[in-house]
Amino acid sequence: MLDSAKRLPRPSGRGDVPPFMVMDVVAAAARLEAAGRRVIHLEIGQPAAPAPSTAIAAARAALDAGRIGYTESLGIPSLRRRIARHYAQRHGVEVDPGRIVLTTGSSAGFMLAFLAMFEPGDRVAIASPGYPPYRNVLSALGCEAVPLEISAATRFALSPEALLAAHRERPLKGVLVASPANPTGTMMTADALAALIRAAEGEGIAFISDEIYHGLDYAMPAETALKMSANAVVINSFSKYFCMTGWRIGWMAVPDPLIRPIERLQQNLAISVPTLSQIAAEAAFDGRDEMEAVKRGYEDNRRVLMDGLPGAGFDSFLPVDGAFYLYADVSRFCNDSLDFAGRMLEEAGVAATPGADFDPVHGCRFIRFCYAGATAEVREAVDRLGAWLKRG
Ligand SMILES: Cc1ncc(COP(=O)(O)O)c(C=O)c1O
Repeated sequence: MLDSAKRLPRPSGRGDVPPFMVMDVVAAAARLEAAGRRVIHLEIGQPAAPAPSTAIAAARAALDAGRIGYTESLGIPSLRRRIARHYAQRHGVEVDPGRIVLTTGSSAGFMLAFLAMFEPGDRVAIASPGYPPYRNVLSALGCEAVPLEISAATRFALSPEALLAAHRERPLKGVLVASPANPTGTMMTADALAALIRAAEGEGIAFISDEIYHGLDYAMPAETALKMSANAVVINSFSKYFCMTGWRIGWMAVPDPLIRPIERLQQNLAISVPTLSQIAAEAAFDGRDEMEAVKRGYEDNRRVLMDGLPGAGFDSFLPVDGAFYLYADVSRFCNDSLDFAGRMLEEAGVAATPGADFDPVHGCRFIRFCYAGATAEVREAVDRLGAWLKRG
């Protein structure tokens, strides 16, 4: 055998994306639990509750009925119509069901959108801190993620000025924002979102709105970009509000010129989205009452953290507007939040995510707490953290 053949396959540079550090916290927490310790989990960003019972019943019925085949690549037509109806009911905006595309979680939505919208080398602005796969997927596809720092001056929202300044430096092809956002839990007001869309589209910068945390808004109602622009690409998911992370089902609303390219990409990349999950997702819309009860639990947790953390010693955090995250500045205690999160886990038995996952520059000063679990546990976490910080 040739020497060179022995070394195959060689990993590509495109696949050389950074790991997700939260998974190291998860692994460390699992080790402690295996050794008999009780750990309170505030690290992973997923609901503790199951999918709506309507969704589970629909999936059961579909399994009992027998064959689960492929669907049309863009999704089951009745589900696409149901999602369009959701926009009419919740946001008062008419969206043609033909513009709705089902995806394998919003994660696949990003991939389809980036492939359909951008060429290798294109620059796409994202907020920093932000959800790490935005930059990692863009870079795996050969695009350049352009992180724009957000700050208290704009309530931790991307501002039109910052966007246009980056565009003047070197032209941007797109901008992606999330409101409510991960990891910050902050939201943009409807006016701020509209102003950003106007600024972007005025310069020919395509706008992508990650609306995965819609429905989980406490400080103000989350407004969809679909109401503000017919050209915006909206990405959403059943993972968070509908508690369906493992079902891997999401959707996009895309402007007309992108429908066919995305359909062709989906045909080739996935054929179609898991059928059982589509069936369950359609029925999930009938389970909103259950999900509103889950949301009330998050609101209780949010209150426990906002009221309790300052007394425990964590007195500096960003506005806790939506999603189920609180982003705390821990620079009073350390300059390496990865190490801090490790000690917090080991000594206080509370798992949280170091900010470095979300912001390579300033994340070392921050910790993300996820409050999607049980209120009693969130309360216990606050008590444990207070006692831990007092012990020094
Ligand atoms: C901001 C944001 N967007 C997208 C996703 C991806 O979610 P999914 O692929 O489950 O829809 C997540 C997951 O945590 C997220 O926080």
